[in-house]
Amino acid sequence: MALVMLCSATGSPGVTTSALALALGWPRGVLLVDCDRDPAQAVQAGWLRAAPVASRGLVDLAQAHRELQPIAPLLWGRTVPLLDPGPEGADAAEQAPVRRFLPGFTHPGSAVVFEPVWVELAEALAALSGSGVDVIVDAGRIGRGGLPRPLLAAADAVLVVVRSTLRSLAAVRLHLDDLRSSLEEAASGAQPGFLVVGPGMPYGDAEITGQLGLPVVADLGWRPEQAAVLSDGVTAPRRFEQRGLLRGARAAASALASSLGPGGAPRPDGAAGGERADGAPAAVVRGDGRVPAPIGGAR
Ligand SMILES: Nc1ncnc2c1ncn2[C@@H]1O[C@H](COP(=O)(O)OP(=O)(O)OP(=O)(O)O)[C@@H](O)[C@H]1O
Ligand SMILES: [Mg+2]
Repeated sequence: MALVMLCSATGSPGVTTSALALALGWPRGVLLVDCDRDPAQAVQAGWLRAAPVASRGLVDLAQAHRELQPIAPLLWGRTVPLLDPGPEGADAAEQAPVRRFLPGFTHPGSAVVFEPVWVELAEALAALSGSGVDVIVDAGRIGRGGLPRPLLAAADAVLVVVRSTLRSLAAVRLHLDDLRSSLEEAASGAQPGFLVVGPGMPYGDAEITGQLGLPVVADLGWRPEQAAVLSDGVTAPRRFEQRGLLRGARAAASALASSLGPGGAPRPDGAAGGERADGAPAAVVRGDGRVPAPIGGAR
């Protein structure tokens, strides 16, 4: 069982959307946790379409921590379902893997007062992942102070979400050394890798790995209209689950889940299954036939 953390350097490359897509396509029971320290409530406002969410997620857990209550036994009760049971009702829901969501912060200052709680939250999540439910954490942007160390220490995989544009890749390059040292300091067993949103626009996965020295562990094709269903609550088209974004997410999730062994370590070559989520070859040729400028050429 595994704890997978998604984060970004800057911009909004698609961390929340990708984390949600992976959670919806995850082959086993899964809990998606919103640990973004810049609260946006994007999952509630988008995918959950502003449905009333009784749970105050991390905020309730912080209060329990202040009252010296252990948070591990409370955590599951603060989660909400990611999917409604659908027309087949409870029977179908019983057979499907459990997919739940732990809401994040509700105030711009919440993350500061949460500092002492990260250790206990990370332990509770690790315990959960030890009991048969995998955990996907939306950690938001790496930020000036770096990602919460206890979460890094508990992570089995850290995916830095990037677009394949020069702007996104030039920015992430600035954060990679700090991320590597934070992982070392946290004594995390996890190696960082990229999740590329929109590979080949223009840089292909192989070029990204070659230039930035991190493996591309997963990619999700460029599907703005389908992504808006997840990020903005746009009405899902018919057979949404069978369309490209969720199909790709299921492939990426299965590859990633199976690459995380019992100890949770990604395969040494960093690849999650060796095949891109959309089944396309890793080397991407641009439609206009031009060779993109080397990523290292950015000033
Ligand atoms: N695979 C995709 N194809 C096309 N558009 C996408 C894809 N994934 C996400 N997007 C779009 O990118 C935008 C930003 O997505 P999202 O909110 O997930 O980013 P983020 O990295 O979590 O941002 P922030 O740092 O602000 O939390 C949204 O409009 C979303 O629909
Ligand atoms: Mg986000």
